[in-house]
Amino acid sequence: MSRIGLFYGSDEGNTESIAFRIQARLGEDVVEILDIADATQLEFANFDKLILGISTWDFGQLQSDWEDFWQDIAEVDMNGKTVALFGLGDQFGYGDYFIDSVGMLHDVIVNNGPKIIGHWSTDGYEYEASKAKIDGEEKFVGLAIDEDQQEHLSAGRLDQWCAQIHAEFGLQTALLTIDD
Ligand SMILES: Cc1cc2nc3c(=O)[nH]c(=O)nc-3n(C[C@H](O)[C@H](O)[C@H](O)COP(=O)(O)O)c2cc1C
Repeated sequence: MSRIGLFYGSDEGNTESIAFRIQARLGEDVVEILDIADATQLEFANFDKLILGISTWDFGQLQSDWEDFWQDIAEVDMNGKTVALFGLGDQFGYGDYFIDSVGMLHDVIVNNGPKIIGHWSTDGYEYEASKAKIDGEEKFVGLAIDEDQQEHLSAGRLDQWCAQIHAEFGLQTALLTIDD
């Protein structure tokens, strides 16, 4: 079975905690979690399936560990890889920059050949602008989680998105039901 590499960056632990909640749904044997702060380019070669998680800081800026890895991620060969993205943000506090980093991460890898899965509806979010929104569609390039303003919606969003990427990755393993 090919495992999924979930690479995340997190300043205060929110994205990290969501990474583990994704792993709980897809299975500990299925998802290997790696902190981008300690990751190397070489580790990306170990996985055909990737989940990338990032938070947005300081008015549309990258999470700091991803920022340090930016040149490296830009060089990773994504041919033959399937990638799902998720991001953490605050839609009321930073509504002009909501989960911008997810859009920036998408844009830096998209020309390196990946198949991107896990697009997510913008329904249910209130924000002004987001670099993660797909032009001409009411969708983000990946899952948006807002632990600051809509923490109560996170479990349901994770259930739905994990079921979606479980199908889109074509996983044969069980999708687990989690009460978190
Ligand atoms: C100073 C500050 C700046 C922030 N800037 C943004 C922003 O520009 N866009 C956004 O969507 N969220 C922004 N946020 C919200 C964070 O992304 C959110 O709290 C997230 O859950 C943090 O995740 P982490 O702990 O994994 O880094 C900001 C939060 C703080 C405290």
